[in-house]
Order: sequence, then C-alpha cells, then structure tokens
Amino acid sequence: MSERVALVSSERGLRVDPDLPLASAALRAAGFAVDLVRWDDETVDWAAADLAVVRSCWDYAWRLEEFLAWAGSVPRLRNAVELLRWNTDKTYLRDLERVGLPVVPTVWNPTSAAALPDAAEWVVKPSVSAGSRDTARWSDAADALAHAAELTGAGRTAMVQPYLASVDDDGETAMLFIGGRFSHAVRKGPLLGRGEGVRQDRDSRGDLRAARPGDDQREVAEAVFEAIGNLQPGVPAPLYARIDLVRDVEGRPVVLELELTEPSLFLPQAPGAARALVHAVEAELSR
Ligand SMILES: Nc1ncnc2c1ncn2[C@@H]1O[C@H](COP(=O)(O)OP(=O)(O)O)[C@@H](O)[C@H]1O
Ligand SMILES: [Mg+2]
Repeated sequence: MSERVALVSSERGLRVDPDLPLASAALRAAGFAVDLVRWDDETVDWAAADLAVVRSCWDYAWRLEEFLAWAGSVPRLRNAVELLRWNTDKTYLRDLERVGLPVVPTVWNPTSAAALPDAAEWVVKPSVSAGSRDTARWSDAADALAHAAELTGAGRTAMVQPYLASVDDDGETAMLFIGGRFSHAVRKGPLLGRGEGVRQDRDSRGDLRAARPGDDQREVAEAVFEAIGNLQPGVPAPLYARIDLVRDVEGRPVVLELELTEPSLFLPQAPGAARALVHAVEAELSR
C-alpha cells in the first residue's frame, strides 16, 4: 500500500495556494497517496497519515492556541509542533539576535517617541501575524505609537522597525530550504504603501520572481538555518524553512522573517523544487 501524505491547508489555502497542486502532483507521481486537507477539519483521521505536512494554514494567526493544540495532537507532523510553537511568534527574532545573527532592528512595545528606532519611517506589526495583517508603514511617530498602543491594548506584542527602503528597489529575498538544504531564492516586491495605514487585504503573492542570491545573503541564510537546531535542541529538523532577507541601511542582509510554519515555498517560481520536496518527504519517512 502506498504511504499517505497529508498536505495541510486552510479553507482559503485549499482554493488559492499555488504550491499545493505542484506539491501534490509531484508526490503522487512518486507513488504517494496525497490528501489535501484543512487543519481544522474534524473528520480527518490524522493517525492515518504517514506524514502530515503543514502548508497553507493561513488562518492560524487569529486562532493560535487552537492551531497549536491541533498541531500537538497530530502524530507525525512537519514541521514539528515545537518548531511551530516557537516560530508562530516573531519574538523568535530575539533568539536569533542573541546568538549573533543579523535581524531587522526591532523595538518591542514602545510607549514613547524616544523609544522608537532612529528612522524616517517605521513599520508597526504584531508579533503574531501572517500575510502582513495588522501591519503598516508610518512616517509620523505619533501614528506609529498609536498603532503600537492599539496592538498592546489588545494584549498583543507590538514590533516597531525602521522601514527599510531597500525593499522598494531590491525587494525582499526569500531563501528556501527544503529537506535540510538550500533549494532556491525568490524576490518579493514591496508590500507596504506609504500613507496606506493598516490594510488586511494585501496580496503577498503579487510581485514574485526567481532570484540569484548574493554570497552574503547565502551566508546569512545558511547561518540562520544552522542556528535552528541549536535554538531548538532535540526537536526534529525542519522539513522546510524560508528565510526572508532584506538589506539594512548599510546594505547588509538582515533577517526579516524566519518562516517555519506556513512559508509559501514558491514552487511555481522554481522548477525542481517540488522534486526536492518529494525527496525530503521520502527521507523523512525512511528515518
Ligand atoms: N522593516 C520593514 N521594512 C520594510 N518593509 C517591511 C518591514 N517589515 C515588514 N515589511 C513589509 O511587510 C511585509 C510583511 O511583514 P513580515 O515581517 O514579512 O510579516 P508577515 O509576512 O508574517 O506578515 C513584508 O513582506 C514587507 O514587504
Ligand atoms: Mg513575510
């Protein structure tokens, strides 16, 4: 009997995640039985899956406790629930910083203009978020502080960062790791318009193209990937990871995001990446 792989998504993810058709076709071609399912579908028998792979559970951000409880109940889940628990809150950036990795300068829960990072424009976002929800770019310190206060008032952790203008020209470089090694890079265009305020409907898949990373980007991404095992000892290695890099004012690559939960893998932009995913699943199942 063929082994069963569940690709786990959400109501919207099942409709529009462009990675799913490519991933499922490649896995089926390799002989797997593939189920495309929602994480919150109570009729799914998770014990029947030889491997359940979290993919596009885009609604986790506002259902975090429920999502992590579900993840803890699935017998063979990748990425492992410990990684999801750590990675669904961007406070993990502090852990990366603590071990000497370059991250976007971030001030947490600022309450005065003096506490804001030195910048002409700021990005304010909650530490638990995906798809740039509740995220905005401000050029007035009072607006940035009001946004941060709104988040903390709702019991959330507010992050304030300098708006890194390199995003406008160079974009953001997504470095994809599949099965423990670097697979490919994709350039993402800027998302936050000046004067736009908070928007919930941004399309983070708008402007995407294959990219060739610089040596310095490759070095930082490899170092971040290596650090995961040290920061989360004893936890099964990630099946997939995405490290989003931007260049700071000095042109150095810094980490904007380490995505171990539901990173888009940008399979349509990378011929061969779906096959890498198949190999990673095979390696996982032969362990
Ligand atoms: N400090 C920043 N400078 C410039 N752009 C940013 C900054 N932080 C976030 N953005 C923009 O907002 C988007 C969403 O922010 P991100 O930190 O990636 O959170 P998420 O993708 O989890 O919502 C990014 O893809 C980027 O376009
Ligand atoms: Mg992002």
